[in-house]
Amino acid sequence: MPALVLLGAQWGDEGKGKATDLLGGSVDYVVRYQGGNNAGHTVVVGDQKYALHLLPSGILSPSCIPVIGNGVVVDPSVLLSELSGLNERGVDTSKLLISGNAHIITPYNVTVDKVTERFLGKRKIGTTGRGIGPTYADKINRVGIRVQDLYDESILTQKVEAALDVKNQMLTKLYNRRAIAVDQVVAELLEYADKLRPYVADTVLVLNQALEEDKVVLFEGGQGTLLDIDHGTYPFVTSSNPTAGGACTGAGVGPTKISRVIGILKAYTTRVGAGPFPTELFDADGDALRRIGGERGVTTGRDRRCGWFDAVIARYATRVNGLTDFFLTKLDVLTGWEEIPVCVAYEIDGRRVEELPYSQSDFHHAKPIYETLPGWSEDITKAKSFSDLPKNAQDYVKALEEMSGAPISAIGVGPGRDETIEINSFL
Ligand code: GDP
Ligand code: IMO
Ligand code: MG
Repeated sequence: MPALVLLGAQWGDEGKGKATDLLGGSVDYVVRYQGGNNAGHTVVVGDQKYALHLLPSGILSPSCIPVIGNGVVVDPSVLLSELSGLNERGVDTSKLLISGNAHIITPYNVTVDKVTERFLGKRKIGTTGRGIGPTYADKINRVGIRVQDLYDESILTQKVEAALDVKNQMLTKLYNRRAIAVDQVVAELLEYADKLRPYVADTVLVLNQALEEDKVVLFEGGQGTLLDIDHGTYPFVTSSNPTAGGACTGAGVGPTKISRVIGILKAYTTRVGAGPFPTELFDADGDALRRIGGERGVTTGRDRRCGWFDAVIARYATRVNGLTDFFLTKLDVLTGWEEIPVCVAYEIDGRRVEELPYSQSDFHHAKPIYETLPGWSEDITKAKSFSDLPKNAQDYVKALEEMSGAPISAIGVGPGRDETIEINSFL
């Protein structure tokens, strides 16, 4: 029963899409377990580039069954347009399975996301504006709409009424917006019902039966460890659990089934949106990382904030996820620096701190303590094995591995499927 979890070890955009796609050809199922279309996962296959938001990256591997688990929040219009976009490019999406228990991002959740951010002003989170937080809030408040509700008009109407009852008060009285009409929302949601019906399934049963039959299941996280609602830099986080435990709740698979947890780790650090980021660079090095690494958001087109590698964060990711392996990505982006600083600890109010502080105020005060490693100038994009890397690049990887607490089992040296050095097999 090989079940693997693949997740972001930093603040998202580590290259999860590429890593998932790479394994997609060898696994039977790829499952998204949390988040929604706030994610933007880029996959490069030959000369084709795909940006996936809601669909698991395994959808590009013909032998693989893609699954949207119960923990995901689904915007039906985004899902249908993503599916038709792939169909137009010749990708078969007919095997997709969607949990009937997944919650739906309704049009009013998108409105609430946008108005609350505007209301927060300077204190805003910098969300993707896709309705993620309000949809998870409705789920927890027990006023959410689930995929299965689309198939009972009377229940759907009652649930939309219940949700809008309070929201319309808030929209009109607090935010000075127009009220949203129940029938309009219901009519829009019902339009999606037939189109989604062929995909809706009891995904918990399907996945557990698959594991009993020794099929290989890969759980693909969205976002990253530091964006986790429980373990991230709260409140500057997303509203779900991208960390490994989220795969169990978000797919209905017990923790005893998970055999491997792979952390996707960028060779430097990026973050989109607001919140603390100790190694962030505001100088020419930051601009160079952004330019060479193409660090622009796949979902919102925002420039990503860039900084040096932070080993404190990597160690933390190892711990909270129980990581068994790292997949180090974008090593090629660091080619050309004479020296590369790596953050090994923080200085917080005059103290040296080796581990991520649990206190938000401490983390906001954290200043990186750097160790500087020698860089390399050789092109590494054609490297196929670890020994093909220049000595300084090898030493950089070994130093990161030592500091981060889990073996680096693969290294990305370019965006393409074949631009990968495999050190230990994941399967
Ligand atoms: P995700 O959200 O974790 O899937 O990551 P994104 O797709 O948002 O951002 C990662 C970007 O880096 C994408 O444009 C990938 O094509 C690209 N990428 C992934 N791995 C590598 C790598 O090893 N080297 C380079 N140069 N680019 C990579
Ligand atoms: P992938 O899967 C990077 C960030 C947003 C914002 C915060 C909350 O591509 O790695 P939300 O819309 O989720 O309520 O926004 O989380 N964020 C991401 N940052 N990569 C992502 O996804 C992200 N998804 C959300 O920028 O700071
Ligand atoms: Mg992304």
